[in-house]
Amino acid sequence: MSKGNKKNRPPVFVRRHFLVSLAQAMFALVVLFFGSVSLVFLLPRKNLTRQPRLVGILDEEELPGQGVKRIEFAGAAAAGRRPVNQRVFVVKKAARLFALSARCTHLGCLVEWSRHRQRFVCPCHGGMYDDEGLVVQGPPSGPLARIPIFIRDGRVYLEMDG
Ligand code: FES
Repeated sequence: MSKGNKKNRPPVFVRRHFLVSLAQAMFALVVLFFGSVSLVFLLPRKNLTRQPRLVGILDEEELPGQGVKRIEFAGAAAAGRRPVNQRVFVVKKAARLFALSARCTHLGCLVEWSRHRQRFVCPCHGGMYDDEGLVVQGPPSGPLARIPIFIRDGRVYLEMDG
């Protein structure tokens, strides 16, 4: 039996060669899998440059002379989902006009305007905001979010995210 003759090699050599090839193939598959998963996170996303969505909410003559007006409208629908109703408050104070999100900055409940108290009141944990949306009581850590608002051609618009 000569040393270099392949036919005479013991079967353990063939099995070892097969196992090494199998391990290399599995390693290559793992690298390919994690490489492609990493690419998903590294490639730029299209929706990172989302444009604000303009929502016409009122005609100009429907604005309150002074005070707070609650507005509800259908929000943008996420893919495969129904649109969720949005609530905002349009505030006219002296000559200023601004819009506040109704979403409480504590845990996201929807606040209501209390004309009696002249406060936005959160029904969940007693949070309270003044007519500028600033916290006056309770657990909220920040003011109600301001939403850009403008009037064009007699119509009142909000600039909503996405
Ligand atoms: S969610 Fe509004 S106070 Fe907690």
